[in-house]
Amino acid sequence: MSVPPDHPASHRTHPHFTRTVYYGTALCLAAALVLCSCHERHSHPAAASASAVTTATSAPPVPQPLSLMAQIGQKLFYEKSLSVSGQMSCASCHEPSHAFAPANDLAVQYGGPDLKLQGARAVPHLTYMLRTPNFSIGPDQDSNESQATMNGAATAAVPTAAINPHKLARIASNVAKAASAQTSATAMVPQGGFFWDGRVDTLQGQAIGPLLNPLEMGNASAQVIIAKLKKLPYLADLKQLAGPNVLTDDRLLLSESLFAIARYESEEPAFAPYSSKYDQYLQGKVQLSDAEMRGLKLFDDPQKGNCASCHLDKKSKDGQMPLFTDYQFEALGVPRNPEIKANANPHYYDLGICGPARTDAYSKQASNCGLFKTPSLRNVATRHAFFHNGVYHNLNDVLHFYVERDIHPEKFYPKKANGEIDKFNDLPARYQQNIDVVDAPFDRKPGSNPALNDTEIQDVIAFLNTLSDGYHPQ
Ligand code: HEC
Ligand code: HEC
Repeated sequence: MSVPPDHPASHRTHPHFTRTVYYGTALCLAAALVLCSCHERHSHPAAASASAVTTATSAPPVPQPLSLMAQIGQKLFYEKSLSVSGQMSCASCHEPSHAFAPANDLAVQYGGPDLKLQGARAVPHLTYMLRTPNFSIGPDQDSNESQATMNGAATAAVPTAAINPHKLARIASNVAKAASAQTSATAMVPQGGFFWDGRVDTLQGQAIGPLLNPLEMGNASAQVIIAKLKKLPYLADLKQLAGPNVLTDDRLLLSESLFAIARYESEEPAFAPYSSKYDQYLQGKVQLSDAEMRGLKLFDDPQKGNCASCHLDKKSKDGQMPLFTDYQFEALGVPRNPEIKANANPHYYDLGICGPARTDAYSKQASNCGLFKTPSLRNVATRHAFFHNGVYHNLNDVLHFYVERDIHPEKFYPKKANGEIDKFNDLPARYQQNIDVVDAPFDRKPGSNPALNDTEIQDVIAFLNTLSDGYHPQ
């Protein structure tokens, strides 16, 4: 690839990004070797500018050619030689044909030297992640209507917000904190960040993770990755864009490469096409079917699904299309998944914010244990593994879990030796008070009716199917 003379934009913008990214990433690299948790908030000016360029608004983005940097990032995203096995790239787990999630049915994927090491978490899809705010402990947002304009660095100063009345669980546990913050109407809740536990704030910071993760691309150190980058046939292109120093400065080479991946993820329209039937419905271009419309109402109804209290489905005040997440963290008490071999060890628990993948100060707070980030439900019907541990493989099972967890726990949890149901078996007893038992549809008791009956579940699923991109009206 050579630099086309008619592409001034990348020349103009690039040097700015280069410098800031380099320092940001260098900071990151200091911590990198423990799986780079770049959790210093707002330490990354380039990330903000990168997302500012491409943050989607209500109109579908007009496709633009990828910048040269993003084109290099695209190659890196598909570059198998960067893995210890030589057989795995980012796209192996994040397949473009599946909203950048796996095409197979496994709960978790395999990686490492011979692709036989099992991962510990379900692979998220990567669509719409560009609007992910930085991790913070911030005010609870007042439901759909005030869905903030959170993105990138814009989150620090989210103003005081009212409590979302349809979402109470985290609020109860944070009342004390709110009171001491002298804003009794404000509940402070963990939100934002990449990964299921929010441990990384930027796409650049994220990209080093899988490259070093022994269960994924498996490189032993940053140096090993750097040596591989130096052998790439398109190294010369990177040199042309980032300057000759990338050939002599290893850290710069690495940070530029991670930056290129982030550029690809930011610019490639396939990561945020806004082309679902629901998008077209919100734009007044198509009608939903009767079943889809019933499903939408149930999804919204605080007494029924109450889904929209966490999976926001209305345009934000500033006109941004909904992403079906408020980015907040919740403990839903999802059952332990025996498909994950690590779970054979009764002492092993995936505690979300409390680790094991996350190790910062937030991970030491008991009230954060068992909490995972609310995922975007866009493209959810294309997924084959649901929840952070991939315990369910179809939406019907997910929906039954939501509405029957507290009515028929025996359907979801195994029995203990003494015959009792081992409810919430994937969270140690001392953290089970973090689990949401307040918000509908989790507010039921044995003997009561589920929030949604079987027909209603099918309607909600019909609605969820309208969230898949690439819809073409007949
Ligand atoms: C072996 C499978 C695998 C490979 C290869 C892989 N990933 Fe991932 N990816 C995952 C898993 C699993 C998670 C969730 C991990 C967690 O939450 O701790 C994830 C999470 C992510 C996220 C966070 C998404 C979000 O919304 O929070 C991004 C971004 C991402 N990966 C990008 C990449 C890039 C870039 C590469 C290549 C450098 C890559 N991945 C390679 C499995 C993989
Ligand atoms: C209190 C907030 C909350 C409510 C209410 C809620 N969800 Fe969720 N949802 C979450 C969180 C948090 C997760 C991730 C939990 C985990 O993996 O441990 C999740 C995960 C999911 C997933 C799995 C997605 C994936 O990619 O793995 C689906 C599907 C889903 N929710 C649908 C729904 C539907 C449908 C409703 C309404 C019946 C609903 N949710 C209500 C917070 C909520």
